[in-house]
Amino acid sequence: MKRVLSAVFLVAAVAVLAQIPRLASSTEAQPGPLSRKAAAERASALAAVGRKIFFDPALSGSGKLSCSSCHDPAFAYGPPNALSVQMGGANLLRPGLRAVSSLRYLQAVPHFTEHYFDSGESASESVDGGPTGGLTWDGRVDRIREQARIPLLSDFESANESPAAVVAAARRSPYGPELLKLSGSAGTAPVFDTILESLEAWQQDYRQFYPYSSKYDAWLAGKTSLSEAEKRGLQLFTDPRKGDCARCHVATRDGNGSPPQFTDYAMVALGVPRNREIHANKDPHWFDLGLCGPIRTDFRGRDEYCGRFRTPSLRNVATRQVFFHNGVVHSLKDAVEFYAQRDTNPEKWYPRDATGKVMKFDDLPTQYQRNVETGSPFGRSPGATPALSEEEVADIVTFLGTLTDGFIR
Ligand code: HEC
Ligand code: HEC
Repeated sequence: MKRVLSAVFLVAAVAVLAQIPRLASSTEAQPGPLSRKAAAERASALAAVGRKIFFDPALSGSGKLSCSSCHDPAFAYGPPNALSVQMGGANLLRPGLRAVSSLRYLQAVPHFTEHYFDSGESASESVDGGPTGGLTWDGRVDRIREQARIPLLSDFESANESPAAVVAAARRSPYGPELLKLSGSAGTAPVFDTILESLEAWQQDYRQFYPYSSKYDAWLAGKTSLSEAEKRGLQLFTDPRKGDCARCHVATRDGNGSPPQFTDYAMVALGVPRNREIHANKDPHWFDLGLCGPIRTDFRGRDEYCGRFRTPSLRNVATRQVFFHNGVVHSLKDAVEFYAQRDTNPEKWYPRDATGKVMKFDDLPTQYQRNVETGSPFGRSPGATPALSEEEVADIVTFLGTLTDGFIR
């Protein structure tokens, strides 16, 4: 089943313009509707302040952690190092629970829905794609400005004590006066909201956050050609009898001609191995079950959702050093190989228990293991030939390198 997502998505610049009235109209401090010009000016002033906040370590309990410490522009706004999870908190001694996501291409993520129907299909042929979309690995927030609240106040990330603490630090900063002007009121609530709004406005800067400047984009536009290995990799990536990756990591333009996002945003359980480096996992009874909790709270007790995480975009994936929601895999080659060998060679991926039995899906309590995806390229028996040979895995890795931004200058 191939679900090509027709997200409400336009050419980057148009999308930016379209945001402006929404940004302006949702600002309570503004007395009446702004003229188009005033709205554009406000949006760019917000983005300029948002950029400063994004890089400002003063807005953290430790005074040392900014958004960019974890979301580094040099790594496509993903993690700058090979740590599975980053350290945060007041003394930078509190480890996180999940791998840092890239902040690129989030503008196309649809709001979370429990039942996703592809708008391209007629109602009668429409298939329920299940839980889809939303921000973070479990889709628990919809809007970037709501998302920003999480790290600012989380005790293992920026670790500010309260919105008031964030506002106080922002007021002391060089951009304090500009922020207050944009807020239109000096109260904690309106200034905090303006901080969130400005972080969102900054993350809507298409040159930074959705440049579509990869070799693959250039190739789609007919401006360059792919090497033989890249072409083989693309073929294996899309071939249903080989990688079948494009089934979930969509590689073609959608019906509106929007560039491929390399995800359909569906929530899927892959059963990746437990990461024993994550501090919380020292407790054998603690499990990050994604959609069904415990971090996300509205689907607790929905057993059929346990173990599911949002399919990430593979754009810029070659700039990462940690893979999957728990960062358990440390090379792109291993991440691709996991798909080919999870079922044929489980002993390569999972530890053995005291009796020598391979503990497959060791990051999921037994009752949830039936949620794990078994369609291609998975689903072969132990000892069978993997869907991809070593050379084929290498070709897919080479192809994934074409998804890194910065090829078109
Ligand atoms: C200590 C590291 C750390 C810091 C600091 C941090 N983040 Fe994150 N960020 C993460 C992690 C980890 C995730 C994934 C969280 C999850 O899935 O629950 C994430 C996810 C996100 C997402 C959702 C991405 C997606 O794919 O849906 C956004 C947006 C985001 N962060 C923005 C910010 C902003 C804005 C700041 C600064 C106010 C910030 N982050 C600071 C670690 C960090
Ligand atoms: C059934 C849907 C599905 C298919 C098919 C699929 N993926 Fe994924 N992919 C996912 C989901 C879901 C995740 C996140 C899972 C998690 O972290 O628990 C993911 C994560 C990844 C990651 C890690 C990205 C990151 O930012 O950490 C890579 C790399 C990847 N997939 C590559 C591939 C390749 C290559 C193929 C084909 C061999 C493929 N995928 C096939 C759904 C799929």
